[in-house]
Amino acid sequence: MRKLDGKIALVTGAARGIGFGIAEKLAEAGAVTALSDVNGEGAEAAAKRLQSAGFNADFIVADVSKREDAQKMIETIIQRHGTIHILVNNAGINRDGMLHKMGIDAWDEVIAVNLTGVFNCLQAAAIHMREKEYGRIINIASASINGNIGQANYSAAKAGVIGLTKTAAKELGKKKITVNAIVPGFINTEMTRGVPEKVWDIMAQKILLGYVGEPSDVGNAAAFLASDDAKYITSSVIEVTGGMVL
Ligand code: NAI
Repeated sequence: MRKLDGKIALVTGAARGIGFGIAEKLAEAGAVTALSDVNGEGAEAAAKRLQSAGFNADFIVADVSKREDAQKMIETIIQRHGTIHILVNNAGINRDGMLHKMGIDAWDEVIAVNLTGVFNCLQAAAIHMREKEYGRIINIASASINGNIGQANYSAAKAGVIGLTKTAAKELGKKKITVNAIVPGFINTEMTRGVPEKVWDIMAQKILLGYVGEPSDVGNAAAFLASDDAKYITSSVIEVTGGMVL
């Protein structure tokens, strides 16, 4: 018996990167895993990768920043699979720039996806999970909650995710729903591979373990939080940073 056998999981932003790494670990642990993304082709290809590795995976297209998309996504998963046990809010973007040069569009876009997107999905799933009196919600924040140069929009959104996590944990605890956040540090994905080499080296130097993390490192933490091994953990913020000090 694997730790997530019989569980239905949904991961947003799962076409690639950390989201895919999380979906892979949930599927390996036995969960029926739905990979959702605004990039439909990417989500389909990612689900196929898991299916060809023998896992039970499917995909769904949704832009988490759109309320209707998020609600429809949760409804569709419940229709397809009967319920939803695990929601991982991973979809996120960055539009970096110094504060004094940041346009309102860069601010609005990042808040819409990274904060409102989490609210949209969490709320839709929580309404169902409350009725079932079971749920595991895992929100992906970032080490930038401590502030990070060039990321006023991103760090504000991610700090907001921590506040949302803690309030949801308080409201949903009595319904046996756990809500936790993971704080990844600097993880090897297309998001970070876009930074200049100089910045990559500076970031790597800030990591106590001395190397950049992989999506599977975050996936392992998510699979743990989704499992019964973590049934008494809620309102927590777990760092998966290799001890990064920003
Ligand atoms: P990525 O850019 O490689 O992948 C993000 C995925 O989210 C993509 O497949 C993209 O299509 C999808 N996405 C973007 N906007 C969306 C929307 N509106 N609706 C649905 N899907 C959408 O990024 P990465 O690195 O895998 O990041 C995943 C999460 O982890 C993000 O929330 C990011 O902020 C967070 N994170 C990443 C870190 C890193 O070092 N890579 C560090 C800390 C946090």
